[in-house]
Amino acid sequence: MDINSIKQEAKKEIDQVKRLKELEQIFRKYLGKKGEVSLVLHSLKDLPEKERKEKGLMANKIKKELNELITKKKNEILLTDNKSDNQEWIDVTAPGILPPQGYAHPISLIQQQIEESFQSMGFSVIDGPEVETEYYNFDALNIPKNHPARDQWDTFWLKNLDLLLRTHTSPMQARYMEKNNPPLRIIVPGRCFRHEATDASHDVQFYQVEGLMIGKNVSMANFKGVIKAFLKDIFGPKLKMRLRPGYFPFTEPSFEIDIMVRQAHHKKLGQWLEIMGAGMVHPNVLKSVGYLPGEWQGFAFGVGIDRLAMLKYEIDDIRLLYSGDMRFSKQF
Ligand code: PHE
Repeated sequence: MDINSIKQEAKKEIDQVKRLKELEQIFRKYLGKKGEVSLVLHSLKDLPEKERKEKGLMANKIKKELNELITKKKNEILLTDNKSDNQEWIDVTAPGILPPQGYAHPISLIQQQIEESFQSMGFSVIDGPEVETEYYNFDALNIPKNHPARDQWDTFWLKNLDLLLRTHTSPMQARYMEKNNPPLRIIVPGRCFRHEATDASHDVQFYQVEGLMIGKNVSMANFKGVIKAFLKDIFGPKLKMRLRPGYFPFTEPSFEIDIMVRQAHHKKLGQWLEIMGAGMVHPNVLKSVGYLPGEWQGFAFGVGIDRLAMLKYEIDDIRLLYSGDMRFSKQF
């Protein structure tokens, strides 16, 4: 076909087209690698020189003209119609928008490690209520009304009920033993509450893990072995711990467990830090759940999860843990 007819035809088609997709087809039909204008340009090489020059100039002019027409049309379509499938002319190489990513809270991270460590030693993970009765939080644990030791736990009482926010996870010792026969091995991670002034190491809420192991011959030596294995899982083989005599109404004898601080930036570097209370379960507690004290015995402990998380992740203020600030939790 002669180049001028090609031009006329192309112009007509460009004029009538309404969609970008069709415009693209027109571009390909005339100006694409095997398009009609390109074929004409290609065929020039076989012509005598004079004719080649003339036709070549002409064909290139038409090519430029059609290109301009198509670009103009494209802009026209984009301007007048941005609803239909003309939108399809998109840049598929543009990067997408990533949704914001969440992060595990340091308390969750350490709790996971604690659970894994104890599960590997045959302990089950049990849940308990955050709102407790006075009976399970105190009486069943050998802390009757008016017992001076109740002052150890500054308590949030609920209005007009003998309900309270649990001050420790120990009430689950009694709840679990009432419903299950010995021997047993459990841990109970959970949130606790104390009516205290807050500072860098105290908050009105915090997390504990209760531990309880009951059997025929469960001894202090077993306790030390289990706790040492657990703390080494969390802090590595170089961990140093010590037992100090302590007092809890629900254990006899009772201990506090300290570990040696090795974290370089910790303000207690090189000193002992208290991380848990523990002891052999008091016969009165066994009696209150219907176990025979002469037949069953065992140990219990309560670890402060916040303390462990703060040590491990070098956090110097407990209140950061409850700030809800993403800039904080992003770091772990
Ligand atoms: N419940 C005690 C506390 O919160 C810790 C503890 C648990 C002590 C179990 C002995 C046995 O202080």
